[in-house]
Amino acid sequence: MLELICPLCQQPLQPGANRWVCANNHSYDQARQGYLNLLLVQHKNSRQPGDTAAMLTSRQAFLDGGHYQPVAERICQLLGATEPATLLDMGCGEGYYTARVKQAMPDSSIAGLDISKDAIIKACRRSRDIQWLVGSTARLPVPDASLDAALCVFSPWSWEECLRSLKPGGQMLLVGPHADHLLSLREKLYDSVHPTPELIKALPEGLEIVNDQTLRYALDLTSADLANLIGMTPHGFRSSPERQRAVVETGLTGLEVAMRLVLLQRS
Ligand SMILES: C[S@@+](CC[C@H](N)C(=O)[O-])C[C@H]1O[C@@H](n2cnc3c(N)ncnc32)[C@H](O)[C@@H]1O
Repeated sequence: MLELICPLCQQPLQPGANRWVCANNHSYDQARQGYLNLLLVQHKNSRQPGDTAAMLTSRQAFLDGGHYQPVAERICQLLGATEPATLLDMGCGEGYYTARVKQAMPDSSIAGLDISKDAIIKACRRSRDIQWLVGSTARLPVPDASLDAALCVFSPWSWEECLRSLKPGGQMLLVGPHADHLLSLREKLYDSVHPTPELIKALPEGLEIVNDQTLRYALDLTSADLANLIGMTPHGFRSSPERQRAVVETGLTGLEVAMRLVLLQRS
């Protein structure tokens, strides 16, 4: 079973009927939707950190349209090869990939963690068999060397926390955009397209790359799909509403998805 620790004193948390408690009697209520909030108020940088409700609605509609299903399948294939007993999805959002991973690996003990409470409330509707957590990737609420696998799709992560939490031999899958990802859309939204930052700038000691691949395929998107795709990303607030309207009105065919998937192993 995936174990949790108290965010205040780092002692193990024991589950009760509707409440988790540590040896120092710090307690955390299980919300009616089923999630556990382990994000301390002093660790929040804003009142409502993480993605906005509008972004979450767009993302859920786009992902449920199946447009990134090949990505979910590749994630399951890469992570499933070692049959991890425990897995944490870091920055899981509204839980699309977490739920797919749980379907593919029903015997694994899986948790999804996000800093956005709204995201986790949506995620709770995807599965009752996943431990949903409000928390930050900067302070993972899990014991040292306790995870067999971690996943991070388009979310921030902390190398220190991943190194601390992964078991020796544990694996971590990072998924992010390749430079070509959604390029023809970005060319329509901006006068000049910003270069995509490298997914991994410098690899810390203690982790080695065991698989590095780019998944490429093309999408034909309707106006509604495009509105959701723009709305679920920073393009929704970075690009001008006029440019967005023009793209959405015409639709887009042959839009290239280019996702980089890097699988790392803890020594
Ligand atoms: C681009 S979304 C990706 C969500 C999900 N992995 C997916 O691909 O559908 C980034 C997510 O990271 C979350 N996030 C941002 N900062 C975070 C942090 N420090 N700790 C945990 N989650 C964070 C946001 O709330 C958002 O849900």
